[in-house]
Amino acid sequence: MKLAILSRAPRAYSTQRLRSSAEERGHDVKVLNTLRFGIDLSADSPDLQYRGRPLSDYDAILPRIGASITYFGTAVVRQFEQMDVYTPNTANGISNARDKLRATQILSRHNIGIPATAFVRNRADVRAAIERVGGAPVVIKLLEGTQGIGVILAPEVKVAEAIIETLQSTNQNVLIQHFVRESRGKDVRALVVGDRVIAAMRRRANGDEFRSNVHRGGSVEAVELTPEYEQAAVRSAQIMGLKVAGVDMLEGDEGPLVMEVNSSPGLQGIEAATQLDVAGAIVDYIANQVAFPEIDVRQRLSVSTGYGVAELLVHTNAELVGVRLGDSGLWERDITVLTLHRGATVIPNPRKGVVLEAGDRMLCFGKLEEMRSMIPERRRRRPRVRKLPAEALPES
Ligand SMILES: Nc1ncnc2c1ncn2[C@@H]1O[C@H](COP(=O)(O)OP(=O)(O)O)[C@@H](O)[C@H]1O
Ligand SMILES: [Mg+2]
Repeated sequence: MKLAILSRAPRAYSTQRLRSSAEERGHDVKVLNTLRFGIDLSADSPDLQYRGRPLSDYDAILPRIGASITYFGTAVVRQFEQMDVYTPNTANGISNARDKLRATQILSRHNIGIPATAFVRNRADVRAAIERVGGAPVVIKLLEGTQGIGVILAPEVKVAEAIIETLQSTNQNVLIQHFVRESRGKDVRALVVGDRVIAAMRRRANGDEFRSNVHRGGSVEAVELTPEYEQAAVRSAQIMGLKVAGVDMLEGDEGPLVMEVNSSPGLQGIEAATQLDVAGAIVDYIANQVAFPEIDVRQRLSVSTGYGVAELLVHTNAELVGVRLGDSGLWERDITVLTLHRGATVIPNPRKGVVLEAGDRMLCFGKLEEMRSMIPERRRRRPRVRKLPAEALPES
């Protein structure tokens, strides 16, 4: 395949390793400076220039977009997507993951453990938000920090309030997060490629530092993940829309707590810790997927007027419980079931013989009018009580 690595750091360890792994495997690979692309929407179809000249044909790209150029970088990736060039990480996926608040918001509805998190704007709401996540000491984070910069542990509510106020006065958005004390300066980085964790390491903070980032002096060691941690990592990457991702998890008392998902994970620390060929695995995965450029399913399927995608719940359509899919009448009503979600498992392209159960959720494509009557009423919000370790409960 002909592969372009989009990177502004051709000499960085990760870029070099990816390039040489691709070369060793006989691929034609170039490292292209993300900032030298020109997005061209002047002709009949979307196009790209590189260094002012028309870009040659590529089969795939591997974006390594740094935090300082997210906007331009994701625009370039989006342009490749419009040109049907395969990318393991889409512009949407990169944007989702880049912003820690956005990532946490998206993960929060998918039954994935996350540290209790709050986001407020008015200073009058700061104190309640801190209490809500468990009180001081509390973690304060810049939405787009990396390498541990912009992650602060505030020992007291008053200090936390002052830090938040100061940051907000310089127009920096910050989130407020429960301090996961039991993780004790350690965290787990899982490198996800496709639907597998291909390497994992534990990072340990240096001295009395609580941030375990390698750039903050953290040390690394290989770790064997339990299925619970593997699943949390793979599902987080999938939900973000990333096929290559570094998922950071704290080890909470009740299991993994996903802190962030990195769309351009560094390879040096994890290859050193695990002695695994992570770069090679990434290149092999891309070569294997090149034939399947990303398709925005909802966008494309909604083009036929009156048709669209909806999720139908079996329990709100009680007559379907215990019925074979082939006898459900859905097909006759012009409704096709694309996937069937049952607990944590997914049955793709379910067959006629599948017997529907009360908890099933069906992702369907079909006539919107036919599906309207089958869609559950909007869920009413109920006040929720978040479970926190007893020691973290705010004093009252
Ligand atoms: N809520 C938290 N509780 C305990 N430690 C945390 C928490 N959030 C972050 N940390 C520590 O700080 C490090 C950096 O935080 P992270 O959100 O990953 O930001 P960055 O993008 O800068 O790496 C983590 O690797 C972890 O060691
Ligand atoms: Mg991190």
